[in-house]
Amino acid sequence: MIDIHSHILPGIDDGAKDLSESLALLNIAQNDGITHMVATPHIHIGRFNNSVTQLYNDISTLKAQVLANNINIKLAVAAEIRLDVELMSLVLGNKLPFIGTLDSVNYLLLELPHSHVPQGYDKFINWLAKKNIKVVIPHPERNRDIQSNPFYINHLKQLGCDFQLTASSIEGSWGEIARRISIDMLEKGLVTYVASDAHSVKRRPPILSNAKKIVTNLIGENKAYDLFFTNPMLLTESLFNE
Ligand SMILES: [Fe+2]
Repeated sequence: MIDIHSHILPGIDDGAKDLSESLALLNIAQNDGITHMVATPHIHIGRFNNSVTQLYNDISTLKAQVLANNINIKLAVAAEIRLDVELMSLVLGNKLPFIGTLDSVNYLLLELPHSHVPQGYDKFINWLAKKNIKVVIPHPERNRDIQSNPFYINHLKQLGCDFQLTASSIEGSWGEIARRISIDMLEKGLVTYVASDAHSVKRRPPILSNAKKIVTNLIGENKAYDLFFTNPMLLTESLFNE
């Protein structure tokens, strides 16, 4: 399986605290059958001001450690970027890492605030589209505005967004509402990716296999394969070749 959303880089956001936790997370992932992971630390202006240069430095250090520790997982780096109007200057300056490129279109993993869908989100997504950038929305099922008004899902889809569910939401770890929205989106064919959003060994480990079983029972083996293998690989293939 290919995990396109994880906080495994040590000490740069609220994910892995240090190198030993990064390696522990990678071992958990390997045991779960994950072969490729994209590290997606937060870029959240004013909270986690991570630069592309720092991310590239950190991933090459982690890759060396993975080799040294005989962990058989391929690594790449992108970021989970918090929606903020100030992102415009970073986009114009080419200072945001993409989660992948498909058919010459660049994709951003663009996180909504957890509490709400901010005003002007549609204008910002349309502005990105004009810059040849499409949006992947991580964990829509955990957003409180979306939970109380699932209309947002349809509107985001109309704007051209793709959706990535959290594996543990499908298992019910984020509550019944998040689980129900996840199942509903899966049944309606609105999901393109499932990822772990791993943060720590205890709180949120990188485990996809349990969710994959549930998704397979729900929509069948072929469609489940797309969400855990084919779609994430197509999106991120270029990152792993860098
Ligand atoms: Fe995340």
